[in-house]
Amino acid sequence: MPPIQVNDKKFSPYISAAKINNRINELAAEINTEYDGKRPLFIAILNGSFMFAADLFKAIKIDAEICFIKLASYKGTRSTGNVITSIGLDEPLKDRHVIIIEDIVDTGTTLHKFLPQLHILQPASLKIAALLHKPEALKYPVAIDYLGFTVPNIFLLGFGLDYDGLGRNLPEIYQLTVG
Ligand code: IMP
Ligand code: MG
Repeated sequence: MPPIQVNDKKFSPYISAAKINNRINELAAEINTEYDGKRPLFIAILNGSFMFAADLFKAIKIDAEICFIKLASYKGTRSTGNVITSIGLDEPLKDRHVIIIEDIVDTGTTLHKFLPQLHILQPASLKIAALLHKPEALKYPVAIDYLGFTVPNIFLLGFGLDYDGLGRNLPEIYQLTVG
């Protein structure tokens, strides 16, 4: 795979499509075993996770459901911290086995703020599947139950991840070339 240019930045190949595919199949195999008979509900967080969610869900062979949500963060008028709200979460979660699908856990802020809101809805269980994790960037601890790849604190592109809205369609993952 040759390096690519997106707007002003250069990116070089980092994880091949074949490697991503193999790892996703391994994660799906674990989930197929652990959730057989539990009819898990996957909740994919848009936009970034759409490609991971599609490939993971195709490899799920047990009865399972999926829904897609968007998270919006805004500054409360009186509070100083960001508040996260979800759009599109129509399914009742009570007593369901829920698996969150995220593209990448970076600082952990998003999930740290959002997970308590899901716990309130009393799912039977709540686990996290993330394709990528940057432990060096972590500000809030997030326990990832199904992790694709641990990566250093570098900017990544492709397979759902964007730079300035571009690059989500790339079937492999690229890293920003420094210098
Ligand atoms: P967190 O709240 O810092 O964990 O942010 C997670 C979100 O930031 C991810 O769901 C991505 O949408 C975005 N993000 C984090 N790192 C990258 C990256 O390297 N490339 C593209 N998007 C990223
Ligand atoms: Mg995301």
